[in-house]
Amino acid sequence: MALVLGIESSCDETAVALVDSDRRIVAQRIASQNEEHAPYGGVVPEIAARAHAEKLAPMIKAVLGDANISLNDVDAVAATAGPGLIGGVMVGLISAKALAMASDKPLIAINHLEGHTLSPRLADASLEFPYALLLVSGGHCQILRVDGVGQYSRMATTIDDALGEAFDKTAKILSLGFPGGPAVEELARKGDPIAVPLPRPLFRSAEPHFSFAGLKSAVLRAKDSGQYNDADLAASFQQAAIDCVNDRLGKSLDQMGDVSALVVAGGVASNKAIRTALESLAANHSLPFVAPPPALCTDNAAMIAWAGIERLGQSDPLDIAARPRWPLDPDAETVRGAGVKA
Ligand code: KG4
Ligand code: ZN
Repeated sequence: MALVLGIESSCDETAVALVDSDRRIVAQRIASQNEEHAPYGGVVPEIAARAHAEKLAPMIKAVLGDANISLNDVDAVAATAGPGLIGGVMVGLISAKALAMASDKPLIAINHLEGHTLSPRLADASLEFPYALLLVSGGHCQILRVDGVGQYSRMATTIDDALGEAFDKTAKILSLGFPGGPAVEELARKGDPIAVPLPRPLFRSAEPHFSFAGLKSAVLRAKDSGQYNDADLAASFQQAAIDCVNDRLGKSLDQMGDVSALVVAGGVASNKAIRTALESLAANHSLPFVAPPPALCTDNAAMIAWAGIERLGQSDPLDIAARPRWPLDPDAETVRGAGVKA
């Protein structure tokens, strides 16, 4: 049995976890920086980096203490090496390098998006490659065909905003604070999803890409009109987003070839209304639906440690660089403008 220490620091959660090859999360701690960033209505990179630098080392010590082990008992140290806010990524990666060097254990540099991508396999031992993945977070909105560890084909991406970003901006328009996704979901429960006429950008377009910028602007115009209450705005926004996801993902599934399951991951995957919609979509395509528990969807270190387990045997050099950008599928074409590939 193998045990990996995972470190996550690419955005505004400082997280440390120990995960073993039997899929047990042996110990984990997550420190959110919501309070630090809330006054600014979004994540401030400099504040995030400073908070990671303060919190990480004591958290690593605490997690090893929780599991009652020492660094010598782990088989590898895995850390997010990108993509993300570079200051934070550097704090986590440099800490992992120091731990790996001091304990003479392999360093495994993990792509944060791969952490999300493989996290469903930590939660569900029966999930096999290849699977179709909707990866929806604050910074990313992609549909991938996942054929194996490191084998990712991007079928679709967003031409403007990510889905989580659209939730966060809608929350801002409705003065719901930060982070906005869970607040929009909660308010939407009290509203009418068809009360506000909103656009479904790229609906039924030939390529399966996403667009959410126009939807967000339409929410702003509807709010400014003074005609609608906030709960109806939240519910109608969420419904429009779900309709877009259903349409775009349905198109991708038709183009993807055989897969074992429809899987959702990333922070937005903790949204219950989206999960319910995806469950129906999967059933319509005769596929099982797999979604990790919400705590594994939002940023965490268990998914980074698990990606380390999946990559055991790999050993990255101590001079490996932190990467602000790191696409999962480097061969995917850049997409610019409304469905026009550049
Ligand atoms: O994966 P994640 O924790 O961090 C990134 O890598 O971006 O995703 C965070 C995003 C934020 O945009 C947040 O508003 C969104 O996920 N989110 C949600 C919900 N919970 C988190 N969006 C909609 N409904 C939710 N319940
Ligand atoms: Zn993430």
